[in-house]
Amino acid sequence: MQNVVHAETRDAVRDLNGSLRTPNGIRFETWYEDFNRYAGDLYEGRYTRDYVKDLVEIGKEVRALAQAKGSLIVAHNYQYPELQEVALEVGDSLGLSQYVAQKQTERVDFCGVWFMGETAKTIVGDRAKVYMPDKPGCSLVESIDHERIKGWMAHNPEAVVISYINTDAKTKAMSDYICTSRNAAQVLQHAADTNPGRRILFLPDKYLGAVALAQSTVDHDRVDLYDGACHVHAKIGEDALETAFDRYPDAELLLHPECGCSTACLAKTASGSSPYGKSYFLSTEQMLRHAETSAAKEFVVGTEAGMLYRLRKLVPGKTFHPISFGAMCEYMKMNTLEKLRDSLEFDRIEVTIDPEVREGAQAAIQRMLTIH
Ligand code: 13P
Ligand code: SF4
Repeated sequence: MQNVVHAETRDAVRDLNGSLRTPNGIRFETWYEDFNRYAGDLYEGRYTRDYVKDLVEIGKEVRALAQAKGSLIVAHNYQYPELQEVALEVGDSLGLSQYVAQKQTERVDFCGVWFMGETAKTIVGDRAKVYMPDKPGCSLVESIDHERIKGWMAHNPEAVVISYINTDAKTKAMSDYICTSRNAAQVLQHAADTNPGRRILFLPDKYLGAVALAQSTVDHDRVDLYDGACHVHAKIGEDALETAFDRYPDAELLLHPECGCSTACLAKTASGSSPYGKSYFLSTEQMLRHAETSAAKEFVVGTEAGMLYRLRKLVPGKTFHPISFGAMCEYMKMNTLEKLRDSLEFDRIEVTIDPEVREGAQAAIQRMLTIH
C-alpha cells in the first residue's frame, strides 16, 4: 500500500503552525495561544487550558493513527481549529475534492459535511475509501426535493440542469453540470452558450443562482432558480451589511454568494453606490487569496464565522471581523477531534455511493472541470 502520510512526513510537511505533521509536532503552548488568539472570540470559553491539554493528547493520537493507517486528513474552512490543525489540507469544497483526487492515497478522512465527503468519494471512486468523523447534513441539501426536480425535467425535457456542489450524489447524478461558489457564473454562461435556446434549472441555492445570473450575460427568462437556501447564510441580510459598513468604514467586505443580502449588495455594487464598491463575492478559499493580495488592512467576513481562524492565522498584520458571531453552522460543528480519532481507530463512518449514481454524479462534476 502506498502510504501518503509517511511520504509527506519524510518531505517535512508542516501544518498551519509550522510544526511537522507528526504526533510530536503538536505543542500545547502553540495550540493554546493560537486557538485563543485567532478564534477565542468565535468560540467563547471553549479553549480553556484543560480542554486544550485534552485536545493535544487526542491530536497526537489522531496523527499516529493517520500515519499507521496511511490516511489523508482534509478539513473544510469552517471546521474547528483543532481539526484544521491535524489536517494535511484545509480548503473549500471544490479545492478539497481536487486535492484528494491528485493524491495517491487509499484512505481519506474528510472533516466537513456529508455532501463534501460524497463529492470526494465520487471523484476518487474505488481507488480510496472515504471516512468521516460524523454524518453532518446541510440545510441546502435538505431543501432539495428529488420529485420536484423530476417534475420540472418532465415539463422541460430538453432543458439543462446545473446543480451547486452543495447537493447529494443523487441530485448531482440528475444534473448536467455541477458548479461551486467559485465558478457558478462561469458554468451558467458556458451551459447557456453551448445549449442555445434551452431552458436552464439552477439549484438549490436561490441567492447563489441570482448572483451567478447577474454576473453572466444569460437571459434571465431562460433560467428557473430553485428556491433553496442555507439557513446560516440566508440570515446574513442587508442590515448586517449596513452595520458592518458603519462600524468598519475602511474595511473590505468578503461576501459568500449564499448570503441573503448578496443580490441587493451586488445591485448596489454594480450601481457604484458607496461603500459597496469594496464588496467582493467569493468562495471561502477565494476569501483567503483575496485577503492575502489586497492592499486593504481590514476585512468584514460575510460567511460562517469559523472561516476567520484560518484568515487571521495565515494573513497576519490584517484584521478580520465576522459579519455576525451567530453565523455558525451546527452541521459543520458536529465533527470533533474525538470523533475523528474514533473514526480513524474503528473505521466507523464510511462514505459509500451506489455505483450508477456515482457514475452520473462524476460525469456532471467532470463536465464542470473541463470548463475554463
Ligand atoms: P465553499 O465551497 O465556498 O467552501 O462553501 C461551502 C459551503 O458550505 C458554504 O456554506
Ligand atoms: Fe450547508 Fe450552510 Fe452549513 Fe454550508 S453553512 S454546510 S451551506 S448548512
